[in-house]
Amino acid sequence: MIVFKTIEEMQAYTKEQKQNGFKVGFVPTMGFLHEGHVSLMHRAKQECDIVVTSIFVNPTQFGPNEDFERYPRDFERDKEIAKNNGSDVLFYPSSSVIYPNEAGTKLMVTKRTNRLCGEKRPGHFDGVVTVLTKLFHIIQPDRAYFGQKDAQQVAIVDDLINSYFFPIQLVICPTIREEDGLAKSSRNVNLRDDERRIAPQLYEGLRGAKEKAQKGETVNEVLQWLYKILQRLEYGEVDYVEILSYPELQPVEGFDQKTIIALAYQFEGARLIDNIIMEGVR
Ligand code: PAJ
Repeated sequence: MIVFKTIEEMQAYTKEQKQNGFKVGFVPTMGFLHEGHVSLMHRAKQECDIVVTSIFVNPTQFGPNEDFERYPRDFERDKEIAKNNGSDVLFYPSSSVIYPNEAGTKLMVTKRTNRLCGEKRPGHFDGVVTVLTKLFHIIQPDRAYFGQKDAQQVAIVDDLINSYFFPIQLVICPTIREEDGLAKSSRNVNLRDDERRIAPQLYEGLRGAKEKAQKGETVNEVLQWLYKILQRLEYGEVDYVEILSYPELQPVEGFDQKTIIALAYQFEGARLIDNIIMEGVR
C-alpha cells in the first residue's frame, strides 16, 4: 500500500491508473478505522481495480464546542487496517495541504440540512461538502463509498454529486454494528464504561420503533414512544429523535413512503447517531 500526503502525488497516481483503464474507488474517512470503514473498503475492492482510502480529520466540519481535539487518532494502526483490507493507496494529507489558505468561494448546503444533525450542528455539512469537493478533485474517483450510518450525510452528498455534475457514482453501504447492536463508530472509544453498557439501547429503541410503525401505529405514536424510551436511559440526553421522509428529510404524516427514523444521543463521552430506514408500509 502506498501512502501519499500531497495533492500532486495523489493526482498523478489516479491519472495514470485511469489511463491504464482502471476503475478507482474512493473511501473517505476521518480515521480510527473500524469494521464500518473496512466494509466500505471491501465493497470498493469488489467493484473497482484500485481502492483509495483517505484519512483526514476535517476541522471545518466540527463546531467550536465539538470534539475535534478529542477525536481519536492512530495513524499507525489505521495504516495496518487499510493495508490489510484492500486499500491500495492511503491519502493522508495535513490540514495545510487541504486548507492552504482561506478560500474565496464557500460551499453551503441548503437542502436536506434543516433537520437532524444539520439543524443541531450548524455549519457541519458545509464543512463536509467542502472537504469532499476538495477530495473528489484530488482523487478523481469513479465511485465513492459511504455508510448509511450517516444517512443525512449520504443524502447531502447525493445532492452535491448531482447538483455539481461530479462524474462519480455514489455507493451506499449498510451500517455495521457491534454484536450487541451498537453502530460501530470511531467515537465509541470515548464512551465511559457505564455509557457503553447502555448504548445498545439506542438501536433497540429504533428497532422497537420500526416494529410499531409496521404494526400500524401513527408517526406521532411511534415518535412519542421512542422519545420516552430514550429519556428513561440512565445516562446522557436525547439530542433529537425524528421521523422524516428519506432522502428528502421532510416531515411525514404516515409510513407510506421511504422513511428514516433517526436519533442523536449525547453521552458525556461522545455524541452518537443512529438510524433505521424503512421502505413504505401501508
Ligand atoms: P467517518 O466518520 O470516519 O466515516 C467515514 C465513512 O464510514 C462514512 O461514509 C461513514 O458513513 C462510514 N461509516 C462509519 N461508521 C459506519 C458503520 N458503523 N457502518 C457502515 N459505515 C460506517 O463520515 C466521515 O468520516 C466524514 O464526514 C467524511 C465523509 C470523511 C468527511 O470528512
